[in-house]
Amino acid sequence: MDGGSNPGGSGGGPHVIVLGNEKGGSGKSTTAMHLVVALMKDGHRVGTIDLDARQGTLSRQIENRRAFAEANGLKLELPEHCRVHRAEADTREAAEADESARLQTALGELSGCDFVVVDTPGSDNHLSRLGHTLADTLITPLNDSFLDLDLLARIDHDARKILSPSVYSQMVWEQRQLRAAKGGRPIDWIVMRNRLSHIDARNKRDVGRLLEDLASRIRFRLAPGFGERVVFRELFPKGLTLLDLREKGAGVAMSMSHVAARQEVRALLAAIGLTSEVPSAAQ
Ligand SMILES: Nc1ncnc2c1ncn2[C@@H]1O[C@H](COP(=O)(O)OP(=O)(O)O)[C@@H](O)[C@H]1O
Ligand SMILES: [Mg+2]
Repeated sequence: MDGGSNPGGSGGGPHVIVLGNEKGGSGKSTTAMHLVVALMKDGHRVGTIDLDARQGTLSRQIENRRAFAEANGLKLELPEHCRVHRAEADTREAAEADESARLQTALGELSGCDFVVVDTPGSDNHLSRLGHTLADTLITPLNDSFLDLDLLARIDHDARKILSPSVYSQMVWEQRQLRAAKGGRPIDWIVMRNRLSHIDARNKRDVGRLLEDLASRIRFRLAPGFGERVVFRELFPKGLTLLDLREKGAGVAMSMSHVAARQEVRALLAAIGLTSEVPSAAQ
């Protein structure tokens, strides 16, 4: 991120991090929650916006966190949270104007934050596009399978070659142009491979090769993601993240696997450039 005294990185308002792709279940909300907690633990004031209000995964995680802290007498950091619902109106123009106004209101409420983390739905809609234009940093988690690459590009699966960018990549491209036209800073687009497993080394290598090729073609950076771990399911109902496991009363026993998982979160943050912390075995 940009240096300087403002931890948000820009001359003015908060640094906006958007989690986006057009696929459900790839880890957007999970990654959002981990980033939010990591940034709060680093002492930043963090706001959150849930643009996937229908599913409301991020909202529920934050609510679970508040409830778990209250029930157990814990002091857990909480972000300032806004939920922005899709608008219903007689015309599409009216609905879109309403959605723009709702998002602006949310941003206004969070203007004092250092960071605002925006979670988006797994499908294309006006609110999601608006969210993408806000991004200083856009993070796209991608399930680490060959099939999921079609989120970013049309792939010839037999020849394992890239044919053309996907609709999502084109959408990001358009939002980048819109933002540039308004004089905004360029979007730093980061793709992270999620749910990495040790099985199928060939697939893993092929996915990696194609992603590196795509990264230079459609201009994103690659960051390490999280391994496939059951602990995420255990943490969700408590609104906890891997970064909370040291809290007394978290109620999830720390194991070697959790230590490795926490390192993955720290490595992601370091790759994004959002925290000063360097991943270390002690974390
Ligand atoms: N690295 C991972 N290992 C295991 N489960 C994961 C991992 N990342 C996400 N999940 C699980 O996958 C499901 C979908 O994740 P979620 O973050 O809600 O995706 P999205 O927001 O993109 O729809 C959740 O049940 C979550 O706990
Ligand atoms: Mg989600």
